Amino acid sequence: MRNTSIDTVTDAVLASISPDTSPRLRQIYGSLMKHLHEFVREVELTPDEWLAGIKFLTATGQKCDAIRQEFILLSDTCGVSMLVDALANRKSGGATESTVIGPFYTDDAPEIPLEASIASDGKGEPLIVRGRVTDAAGTPIPGAIVEAWETDGDGYYDTQYEIREVPDCRGYVRAAADGRYAFRAVLPVEYSIPTDGPVGVMLRSLGRESMRPAHLHFKVSADGFVPVITSIFVDGDTYLDGDAVFGVKSSLIEPFVRHDSAEEAAAHGVNAPFYTLARDFVLVPALVPASV
Ligand SMILES: [Fe+2]
Repeated sequence: MRNTSIDTVTDAVLASISPDTSPRLRQIYGSLMKHLHEFVREVELTPDEWLAGIKFLTATGQKCDAIRQEFILLSDTCGVSMLVDALANRKSGGATESTVIGPFYTDDAPEIPLEASIASDGKGEPLIVRGRVTDAAGTPIPGAIVEAWETDGDGYYDTQYEIREVPDCRGYVRAAADGRYAFRAVLPVEYSIPTDGPVGVMLRSLGRESMRPAHLHFKVSADGFVPVITSIFVDGDTYLDGDAVFGVKSSLIEPFVRHDSAEEAAAHGVNAPFYTLARDFVLVPALVPASV
């Protein structure tokens, strides 16, 4: 089509899609084009503003590498990650609620024995995490994998340091025959998401918060069950209602209980003070029987 105009260019783009295109891709791309064009018309985007947007997205891509994921950060801070998650998990079937995976998950977390620590010595205040993994009826799921990752006590993930020889403050355990799991970690702290990239520029431009409430990330999975990616947030945190990525859900807030007894600490092989978190996880079967 030639001589496209404000009124016809959207139809021209939609008409350019090949008839061989899969229906789902046609739906996604077509809808995206319609909304994108409507957005441009609605705000009367100027050439300078359009170029600023192109430069912003270019910088976002250039900030990404094997470890740094600026696009996930952009998605998270725009609320898109939580929206996608909410749509995918509308019907939880009683499973533990999910939340954003965030930009700091890595696939190299080591397996550790039950009761061992995911954090190396001196990474923060000791935390002991315990709970059970069950189905919605409370039946234990032996062998369920409970993976956790978190910042150190200074609020930084291992991937944010210049040198990262081995994974730290991340690891997984396998639940015992009764579904119980336990591991040691460090008390989560509030932290700022990275603001040294384009997302930081965006947040500052909008006068927005960059802090996240203290939390411990979890990925809980087992054969035959839908995995749950979630976080447990520290009750009483300042930023529970001001999370930069909108990831807090009430069902995911738990007390992290402080213990000052030196004897108790010694019994657990840690120094006082230490903290405990008790938290169970519920998974639902991956295959839903066909209705009759
Ligand atoms: Fe996090």
